[in-house]
Amino acid sequence: MHAGISIQATAKDELYAALARQAEALLSGEHDLVANAANFAALVWQHLPRISWCGFYFLQSDGDLLVGPFQGKPACVRIAMGRGVCGTAAVTRHTQVVADVNEFPGHIACDPVSRSELVVPLLRPDGTLLGVWDVDSAEQGRFDAIDKVGMEGLCRAFMDSLGN
Ligand code: SME
Repeated sequence: MHAGISIQATAKDELYAALARQAEALLSGEHDLVANAANFAALVWQHLPRISWCGFYFLQSDGDLLVGPFQGKPACVRIAMGRGVCGTAAVTRHTQVVADVNEFPGHIACDPVSRSELVVPLLRPDGTLLGVWDVDSAEQGRFDAIDKVGMEGLCRAFMDSLGN
């Protein structure tokens, strides 16, 4: 059992390491937010198995999170700070790993098939919030600690690409 878990964990580590290298290569030389966000979402969508949606919400001057480049079905357009998993990640500035969205108070069901979510806050080097990166899955408990660390690393590569 333990050997199986360890092999799986190692494979997942390797997937995230490979994705981070690909993200750096794909985004290097371009600092545009929309261009890099669109390619980042496409890269993750293409390579990360068993996800149903992935994309960005960017913080607006009115305090709302507004949907940005994404892959998957059409999504909720605006999310108020503090609302749902995305708004919670934005307010707490901590990555949210939600194994079962039905047990998350205030979860916003953009897509009823979504069962688990991983949301990473995106912080600029000066500490201000750019927005959040949201990945959803139709599978309960899809995301674990390895996904959290791996996705945070991927998001660092994305933020570095913006050069600010
Ligand atoms: N479920 C999210 C909203 C965004 S969508 O899943 C695309 C939330 O509770 O914040």
